[in-house]
Amino acid sequence: MNILGLLTALALATGHAAAQQDPRELLEAIYSNAKAAYAERNFVEAVKNFELLKTNIPEWKDNYFNLATAHLYGGSIGQAFEVLDEVVTKYPEDAELASKYCSIIASMLNQPNDFVYPERYKSSQAMLNVCIKAVKLAPEDAQVYITLASLLTLLKEYKAAISIFDDWLLRFGHENAEATRGAKNSLTETLVRNGDYDRAFELALEVFEQDPSPENRQKVAYVRKIGWPIDLMAWEYQKESVEQMVAGYDTSNPLICKTNKQWRVAFNYSQEATLHPDKISVSLLNPETAYKTYGNPNDPVFVGPELKIYPRMYHERWIHLVNIQDAFISGHPGIIHSDCTLYTGSHHVNTDLQSFRDKETEIREIPYRAVSIIQHQTRNYYHWMLEALPKLLLLKKHLLDLQGYEDVRIIVPEKGIAGCIDATLNMPEFDSLRHRFIPYTLPTNTRYHFPKGLHVVDWIHPLDDTHQTLHKNLWSAYWPPREIHHLVRSFFHDALKSRNRFPSLSPNNHVGEIVYVSRLNTVRGFPNEAELLEYLSQRFGERLQIHTGSEEQLEQVAIFTRARVVAGTHGAGLMNYIFAQPGAALVFVPMNPLIEFCFGHIVSAMEGTHYLLTSIPGSHYHGIYETLSKSEMIVMGNTIETALEDVLSRNEGGATELDHEEL
Ligand SMILES: *[C@@H]1O[C@H](CO)[C@@H](O)[C@H](O)[C@H]1NC(C)=O
Repeated sequence: MNILGLLTALALATGHAAAQQDPRELLEAIYSNAKAAYAERNFVEAVKNFELLKTNIPEWKDNYFNLATAHLYGGSIGQAFEVLDEVVTKYPEDAELASKYCSIIASMLNQPNDFVYPERYKSSQAMLNVCIKAVKLAPEDAQVYITLASLLTLLKEYKAAISIFDDWLLRFGHENAEATRGAKNSLTETLVRNGDYDRAFELALEVFEQDPSPENRQKVAYVRKIGWPIDLMAWEYQKESVEQMVAGYDTSNPLICKTNKQWRVAFNYSQEATLHPDKISVSLLNPETAYKTYGNPNDPVFVGPELKIYPRMYHERWIHLVNIQDAFISGHPGIIHSDCTLYTGSHHVNTDLQSFRDKETEIREIPYRAVSIIQHQTRNYYHWMLEALPKLLLLKKHLLDLQGYEDVRIIVPEKGIAGCIDATLNMPEFDSLRHRFIPYTLPTNTRYHFPKGLHVVDWIHPLDDTHQTLHKNLWSAYWPPREIHHLVRSFFHDALKSRNRFPSLSPNNHVGEIVYVSRLNTVRGFPNEAELLEYLSQRFGERLQIHTGSEEQLEQVAIFTRARVVAGTHGAGLMNYIFAQPGAALVFVPMNPLIEFCFGHIVSAMEGTHYLLTSIPGSHYHGIYETLSKSEMIVMGNTIETALEDVLSRNEGGATELDHEEL
């Protein structure tokens, strides 16, 4: 029933009441206030009004979803769940309601990057139960059925999801070509998460051939990128997809596309600065090191079969301070654009356009000069520590701390999206900047406008990549310049020193010299990790320190600062290797197929060594490793021992000769 119908019914029911004001008019007024507040993103006000409507018209089902959505966007996800639960409990036989509930949850789970985690508020099983019920109530409804499969995927129940998708295709696959392509696309995603790359590739290609849209092209790139190491096809499909997508953007908005020409994508700030010096300028921050080669042709050591594809040598990137006139940022990764040009920065063709909006959006005017450190996956520890944070450090040094730039504001991730971000930005090291922070909120709906210009720090690899490790490699976009690793290391080491917390690193101190990075209950962890840790503890005693990731930030740094060997499986925690003792070794079980070589790159940047335990079965990108056997634990223990002896023998005479600064 629509609102008017309900209001009429209500007005009739209460028609005899001696109300001062016609209740129907009153409720209509509340409803329009609610809608207006929602449109203005005043969620507190919207919630208040939808709540009033709920009290007055408790039988209006749609209003529960209005209220829940307002809670959700207002950041009160717990309350959103309360309202959703209330309505499905109240109408237990209503298939449409259950299905709506299910798709709201699926869309929550599917938010790109920096958003809430519904799992924190509600058990997966409880969420699933509602969707299972929806299917039972409406067994012939294709939409309800596929929502269940999508939700199962998001809850990591891949096998169950795949069998529902397959069944869906059998039952409904002939009905509507577009819906079927949609289902195949969703199935592709599930297959990738389940590690079925061959079938995912086949399916993505099939959909793309039927409908060569940029999104379908991107899907092919995505499957190749996750399933095949340094894959040229992935790179080419991705590049074309980005170009095609951007070229198709709407040019009718004169504010963001002044000259009303076609949109274009700019992959390289320094090239742009040459082409359009009136719009962009760059200054090189590392003239001494740019384009120099680093790496070690004899590293890594493979304990087990050698991997044929393995990058070892790299060019240092050009690091630039970039100034863009009349810029905008929007979307989750804070995509920078100006006058129908979209800048990808260092993420190059691997830019994430999922949440970019070319259409009208709310514009937030920033009437100051500003800098931004917003980027793809900011809340992931690796991306925060090695990409976003160092950009802030460089901006501080080269711009924000300089005389004449006191007015410059700083666009930072909003509070609460990640503990590591909050912890860093709360450090006294940023006391002098904090009053200039502007949080980047509601990025999917808001466009930030910088009429006074925007500065960023960014880096770019050379097209003339003689080592062929950075160019045409989708993952290398996330590998920062060598210098950046050292910058982050010094920043945190200095932080420890200034607090008198820097550990003493005498050659005879062996406590905590081996750090094992635990990944319990998560992707790419061992199901029997506890047994492994037990074994390693017995073997190495006090020399072993286990890192769980829940330690306070500087404590984490301190733990790794003592490390001579860092061990674990492929995951963001290994990034802490950059804090380890000079010349430290990294020992890890790579994923299989190994597609992201960032940790090998980190080792090269820090001039360390690494050991890849390829004899121990790794999992694919989204998978869980197999249970470790006793003999595999011994292999790991032996490798750690060898690595440690190696580091100690190379460091004979003390660490001083390797790194004066640190002592
Ligand atoms: C970016 O442009 C510079 C020239 O300004 C060039 O040297 C470099 O190779 C380019 N890199 C890429 C990836 O386009």
